[in-house]
Amino acid sequence: MSRIVYVNGEYIPEAEAKVSIFDRGFLMADGVYEVTSVLGGKLIDFAGHAKRLERSLNELDMPAPCTMDELLEIHRQLVEKNDIDEGLVYLQVTRGSDGDRDFVFPDPETTKPTLVLFTQNKPGLADSPAAKKGAKILSVPDIRWHRRDIKTVQLLYPSMAKMMAKKAGCDDAWLVEDGFVTEGSSNNAYIVKGNKIITRELSTDILHGITRAAVLKLAAEAQMEVEERNFTIEEAQQADEAFTTSASAFVMPVVEIDGTQLGDGTPGKTALRLREIYLDEMRKAAV
Ligand code: PDD
Repeated sequence: MSRIVYVNGEYIPEAEAKVSIFDRGFLMADGVYEVTSVLGGKLIDFAGHAKRLERSLNELDMPAPCTMDELLEIHRQLVEKNDIDEGLVYLQVTRGSDGDRDFVFPDPETTKPTLVLFTQNKPGLADSPAAKKGAKILSVPDIRWHRRDIKTVQLLYPSMAKMMAKKAGCDDAWLVEDGFVTEGSSNNAYIVKGNKIITRELSTDILHGITRAAVLKLAAEAQMEVEERNFTIEEAQQADEAFTTSASAFVMPVVEIDGTQLGDGTPGKTALRLREIYLDEMRKAAV
């Protein structure tokens, strides 16, 4: 099936979509992105993703390609044109192309950003078999750059980390810096001890997950205690439960870390409850 994608103002079949070889996203990873999930044909937490996109663009002095209202409309059009009931919308913005390669940023007056959006159809995204099984985690060193709060398209190391995990028979990697877990390769990381949910506090060390913000709010509303602090792999291995959050996998239980089984090796009740609450509440608020 060929998708309809969006490139710089046009809705076109994916095979016809073109971006310049001089695009700075391609040459310099000079771009940012967002991933928004779709449930029941509606967008989950679009406002949160739009706000983080604006922040990422600001931090990199990159002009916005259009207004956030226009972006919402493009998201909706793509969901409709591709008949997505459950899936994802990817949005990529780069600093564009001035027709050559140079480290210096081009003049934003003459070089417009490149804006690309595409969908992924994922039937069964909410009722995922992976979430029923839980994820096995491998820890790897976090050697990424130090502005992880900006959602850039520099995803080589997260891809390598995921490959290391796969080669070790695991599902995903947790990144460790100075002895503490920063986050997952493409998600935020949590452990659970009793009624307490522990996750690293926000800083430039991690991406400020949109799912994280929603889940922590819902957890507090459900009388769970939330503690934002660093934790080690050893502490995680001794925790009652662990899980990750992201727009693409929602709340994903973790059942094993570096070969150590958590609890009885099945998804924990807190993670499963948070997944259920999150999906229920977000479906209600979807746009
Ligand atoms: N990844 N941390 C990292 C490094 C991420 O790449 C992501 C998201 C998150 C979770 O953020 P959010 O809850 O806003 O999705 C945390 C997306 C899903 C991806 O790259 O596909």
